Amino acid sequence: MITAEDFIPSPYQNTIENGQFHWSAPSNIALVKYWGKKEHQIPANPSVSFTLNHCKTITSLVFAKKDSDEISFDLLFEGKPKEDFKPKIQKFFERTLKYLPFLTDYHFTIDTQNTFPHSSGIASSASGMAALAMNLMSLEKTLNPEMTDAYFFQKSSFLARLGSGSACRSVKGKVIVWGNHEDISGSSDLFGVEFPTQIHNIFHNYQDTILLVDKGEKQVSSTVGHDLMHDHPFAERRFAQAHENLSKIKKVLENGNLDDFIKIVESEALTLHAMMMTSLPYFILMKPNTLEIINKIWKFRNDTKIPVCFTLDAGANVHVLYPEKVAVEVLKFIQAELTAFCDNGQYICDLLGAGSKLIMNN
Ligand code: DP6
Repeated sequence: MITAEDFIPSPYQNTIENGQFHWSAPSNIALVKYWGKKEHQIPANPSVSFTLNHCKTITSLVFAKKDSDEISFDLLFEGKPKEDFKPKIQKFFERTLKYLPFLTDYHFTIDTQNTFPHSSGIASSASGMAALAMNLMSLEKTLNPEMTDAYFFQKSSFLARLGSGSACRSVKGKVIVWGNHEDISGSSDLFGVEFPTQIHNIFHNYQDTILLVDKGEKQVSSTVGHDLMHDHPFAERRFAQAHENLSKIKKVLENGNLDDFIKIVESEALTLHAMMMTSLPYFILMKPNTLEIINKIWKFRNDTKIPVCFTLDAGANVHVLYPEKVAVEVLKFIQAELTAFCDNGQYICDLLGAGSKLIMNN
């Protein structure tokens, strides 16, 4: 079994004075949710997600050798300094220094931008942390050119997880499992792995239309929410349920049974929010329009038998999931009946994607 110690590198063969890398990493949407964690970003239960294609963070990392042994970096968002992102990156560097000892050798300039509108309520921490981890691994690969691709991607996911748990599922596509699960060979609490068997054709180019219900700041961050799963009255049952749902959805992803897919995915979304409503302190992240949309989706599905369903992340926005072959009908329905409940009528059309991409190498 791979342990965290396996990601501590041996002394590097090469040196490099300065340079630059440039990576994009996508967002992802969980089908079985990660909610609750232990020390060192170890998830309380396994999760599985679809990697998205269009919603991405694009990050460049410029590095130059320096003398002091402090962590030192500048952070830019769309080319302009962004002080409020710095503490999260500082913490990330501190957590990963043990695994990337070169971090104190360089001054870094990190410039990052998203393809989705900022403050859209879409989690950018997953794509953001993954894009940064990819860049740092490109630098490590320059210092140790013998590194295998398998190690490169596994360690990228391992590092991304230390920045934000769900980020470890944004390194690769198209379906990623994170967390130990008895039915998924090679699964690990330390990094995400690609779904191990063939996925049914119905999931090819599966669509995710993200309805932007509320673009405001969340009242409760995911980190606080995860913490409230300690001492939560339903925690143990919930963690066991996630294991059960992962076993079930594994079969569904293989056999393409969309009735079962819908039941698992919608139940997971509502369970996530039920955990929020039953923690102490309790909180609600759904908005009235979230519920309006859910009811409309249920009615449409009942009337037309078109297999469209929803999922939610830790916010009010709704992800509408459906097969590519019904995309025309579903988009018509979204435009006619759901955009009225979106902030400024805004939504984003996305689909399953292949994971992070190298844009520029040194
Ligand atoms: C509801 O990965 O954002 O989206 O590890 O504290 O950074 P941290 O939390 P984060 O939590 C995501 C929770 C979720 C479910 C999921 O993506 O599985």
